Amino acid sequence: MHLRDQEKKILNGEHGEARRIALSILVDLGELFGAEEMMEVSQVHIDSSIYMVDAGLDFAERFAELGAKVAVPTSLNPSAIDLERWKEYRVPPDLLDKSRRMERAYLQMGTTPTWTCAPYQQGMIPRFGEQIAWGESNAIAFANSVIGARTNRYGDLMDVCASLVGRVPRFGLHVRVNRRAEVLIRFTGITGEMFEDKAIYPLLGFLVGEMAGDRVVAVEGIPGSVGMDSLKGFSAAIASSGAVGLFHLVGVTPEAQTLEMCLQGTRPKEVLEIAPKMIRKAEEKLWTAEGDMVDLVVIGCPHFSFMEFRELALLMNGKRVHSTIAFWVFTSRTVYGWIKNCGIVKDLTDSGVMVFTDGCPLQYPKETWHFDVMMTNSAKLANYCYSQTGLDAAYGSLEDCVDTAVQGRIVRRKSPWKKY
Ligand code: F3S
Repeated sequence: MHLRDQEKKILNGEHGEARRIALSILVDLGELFGAEEMMEVSQVHIDSSIYMVDAGLDFAERFAELGAKVAVPTSLNPSAIDLERWKEYRVPPDLLDKSRRMERAYLQMGTTPTWTCAPYQQGMIPRFGEQIAWGESNAIAFANSVIGARTNRYGDLMDVCASLVGRVPRFGLHVRVNRRAEVLIRFTGITGEMFEDKAIYPLLGFLVGEMAGDRVVAVEGIPGSVGMDSLKGFSAAIASSGAVGLFHLVGVTPEAQTLEMCLQGTRPKEVLEIAPKMIRKAEEKLWTAEGDMVDLVVIGCPHFSFMEFRELALLMNGKRVHSTIAFWVFTSRTVYGWIKNCGIVKDLTDSGVMVFTDGCPLQYPKETWHFDVMMTNSAKLANYCYSQTGLDAAYGSLEDCVDTAVQGRIVRRKSPWKKY
């Protein structure tokens, strides 16, 4: 790989041991993928901020001890816990201690304590075409596809290395030609009524992710009126069932104002179709729950936006969460500040909803809560639920989640694709 003088100096240790280690790891990554040079990125989003195993903590503390400092603005994905409401979240002492150590190490490195998996819905939003290095699969898919910024799917710890040197190897989705769609997916028999049910978007994301694998995919037929939060649910789902870093929605996403644009003058290698029956089957796959018993309802995966809170507050108006149900919403500290200032936090907590920041429901403290069945409006969470938490999952719209939490049993409206 061709290295510039500045990069050679970093590799010689002239900018400290932490940067030397970080750059040498990234150069190895680049050589593995045939990159010819390094390139600068303007910002980084670190996924490794969540405590999962001691190795991740050791890595962060080692860099902090070496005096590592981020070279570019760097946001943080969720912690394992709510770092502020840890008592209400019943965090065991060991997990609290390790999450706090993780927090200390990353703050010492100069990162911004965003603690959110939806960094694109608050301050640090890249522009179209901006070269960035993001971790967290939903955020990567959203940044590449909905915003049109450019990042590869940076895995844990690579993101940390990128933040310390503000550079990554030039390969993959950083390069325009690799952003062209290889697979085209069209709808057949999907009606306007189906698109009015917002639960369709995470389901479509889940299906398209399965069909795309790790390929760049173009989808024709998504209505131009689709909202940001539906695109968020789609991005999270597509990146959980597939290894998708970039998708194009023709006429919707910025690099796909026309089909020709996202194909970059080529023909798709494969053309596939999605019919209503496939959406019904995708939804069935996300259900492992049997019957209508449920004890946990979780929304905010990815973290809830201000607009979603407004909708939730309207749906909860005058209602109360059933005594047998825990109803959790996860969001960022920034959005929490907004909803606190306008009274939504008080209204929701008065009705029995628990609003948490910083954390990720997949890592909830199992030793102190004893649940069997979770309902959610997130296809990503439903997809990972059983394998990562041991809970059975049920999937529905936001309205279904609210009705379920209020009635104390699983409620799922009849969706328009159910009859196929
Ligand atoms: Fe975010 Fe955790 Fe869901 S990191 S996207 S809340 S699985």
